[in-house]
Amino acid sequence: MTSIDSRHYLMCPPTYFDVTYAINPWMDPARSVDRELAITQWTTLRETYESLGHRVDVIDPIPGLPDMVFTANGAFVVGRRALGARFREPVRAAEAPAHRAWLADRGYEVHLPQAVNEGEGDLAWTGKHILVGTGFRSASDAQAEIAGVFGVPVIALELVDPHFYHLDTALTVLDEHTIAYYPPAFSQASQRQLDALYPEAVIVGEGDAMVLGLNATSDGRHVVMAAQAEKMAEQISSLGFVPVPVDVSELLKAGGGVKCATLELHK
Ligand code: ARG
Repeated sequence: MTSIDSRHYLMCPPTYFDVTYAINPWMDPARSVDRELAITQWTTLRETYESLGHRVDVIDPIPGLPDMVFTANGAFVVGRRALGARFREPVRAAEAPAHRAWLADRGYEVHLPQAVNEGEGDLAWTGKHILVGTGFRSASDAQAEIAGVFGVPVIALELVDPHFYHLDTALTVLDEHTIAYYPPAFSQASQRQLDALYPEAVIVGEGDAMVLGLNATSDGRHVVMAAQAEKMAEQISSLGFVPVPVDVSELLKAGGGVKCATLELHK
């Protein structure tokens, strides 16, 4: 298992969180959102990271951007380099310049994207390469651009189930050697590719996938994840990881979870 180091995360409080449009199958604008509860759950998530020794920075929420709590989509950052997001859905487009400005103000070298990419929602840094989820949001032609910015191999994976529209809804990097994923979210070809890359991967079942258990963050030992994904918690425990359950049920109404609400500024 990789050594546990302190991680650096960017979060955005759900001050203006709401479900006012539907851009994924989890969202139903007719169903009410308890914003106070969302704020309480988000605060617990933030405090959970801090209690694990991680640094959490916060970007100011913007009125009229109800999904801005999902900072994972705002950019992708490894070292001092950042690739800005380019959202597929116009309703989220204005989140991208806000994240670019936040990063540029802190000295990151920020690249302006040409192709559609929804940040760390679809891009996963494994320590060796970047996995990119395509099929719903990020474009497959983002691959060359991502490789160009970060100078590491990029592997595109095709998502096929609309419930798992971002890579981070179907796959978690647990440490440099281990991932967990839900195979039916991927095309047959991508399933074969994942199996070849990670023959020892944790295979998560439908029940845990459908509570977005895979939308988790790992520091190499502690895995902060949806409390509802009990079987997955047992699976990763048996490998020596420590599940840290949190409840982000309000965010699930927008199709998001723990990871969506967390952009890692990878060191
Ligand atoms: N409602 C948001 C959307 O559909 C949820 C984003 C969740 N973020 C994520 N990284 N999976 O865009």
